Amino acid sequence: MKKTRITDKITYVQPDSMANFTSCSGIMIGSKKKIWIDMNMGPVETPKLLKTDPPDACIITHYHLDHSIWTRHVKDYSNATVFIPQSEENYFTSLEFVIENTAGMLGVGDLWQDFVVKTLGYRELDGYECYTEKTVFTRFAPELVLIETPGHSPGHTSFYFPDEKILFSGDMGLDRFGPWYGWSDCSIPDVVESILKLDGLDVDLVLTSHGGVLKKDIQTVWAGLIKQIIHREKKIVRQLERGITKEEIISRGVFFSNKDKVKPPMKQFLDMWDGSMYNHHEALIRDGGLVRLFPGISHWD
Ligand SMILES: [Fe+2]
Repeated sequence: MKKTRITDKITYVQPDSMANFTSCSGIMIGSKKKIWIDMNMGPVETPKLLKTDPPDACIITHYHLDHSIWTRHVKDYSNATVFIPQSEENYFTSLEFVIENTAGMLGVGDLWQDFVVKTLGYRELDGYECYTEKTVFTRFAPELVLIETPGHSPGHTSFYFPDEKILFSGDMGLDRFGPWYGWSDCSIPDVVESILKLDGLDVDLVLTSHGGVLKKDIQTVWAGLIKQIIHREKKIVRQLERGITKEEIISRGVFFSNKDKVKPPMKQFLDMWDGSMYNHHEALIRDGGLVRLFPGISHWD
């Protein structure tokens, strides 16, 4: 893992590998108390770190397992309070709920459950507190501002340090892949609204979950995310107009391209996510497309 000191208070931590959706970058905050956000450095590194340098509070931006699975180890090694987004509570406490509302809806529930339990180590979480956008972490870091940024997941939350003008943006898509909305509980309009919301913040530095640190041209990068979504929509429309079938479009890739050499079960998962992203786009296209919902973005392309 790589630790980068951002300020006296904030350290950005990146895992050695993010292969197979098992980890993400997070931050360690030294405020009134020690707080970690999304510190999923993998099944070996995070427990080791919990043992040697235990935090007082652990916060998760959203339920996706590459961000949240480590919370299952927190109680084994520390007395830290685990905070999860209130609107996603069921995803943390019920295996049945999380499978049903993710891969189950997309017809790959059994395969996904196997991966989630046996490879990622899903356990139902107990002993946690819920947060909302209104939560102030008075005991731990009162300066931390929570910003609801749904779309990537229903309760996805970003964390803002107004004094330092620093944002931890979680999975907003500020990485080489762009915004991801591969489950049925994702929403493209919500992703766009969340991007516009964060674009309005006074920010000098963005710390991302999968794309490192951003310092330059932050507003241009936010606009670029929306352009990426518009491009995906246009690409689907073009293919449909040429008579290419839904199955073929999904197989060519909506988000994930060059899938042919990917081995099972990952290949099935990539197709599942591409299928779900296609469905989100298809519903929007039927309704007149993204530009009808957000007329202001028509000139962004
Ligand atoms: Fe995510």
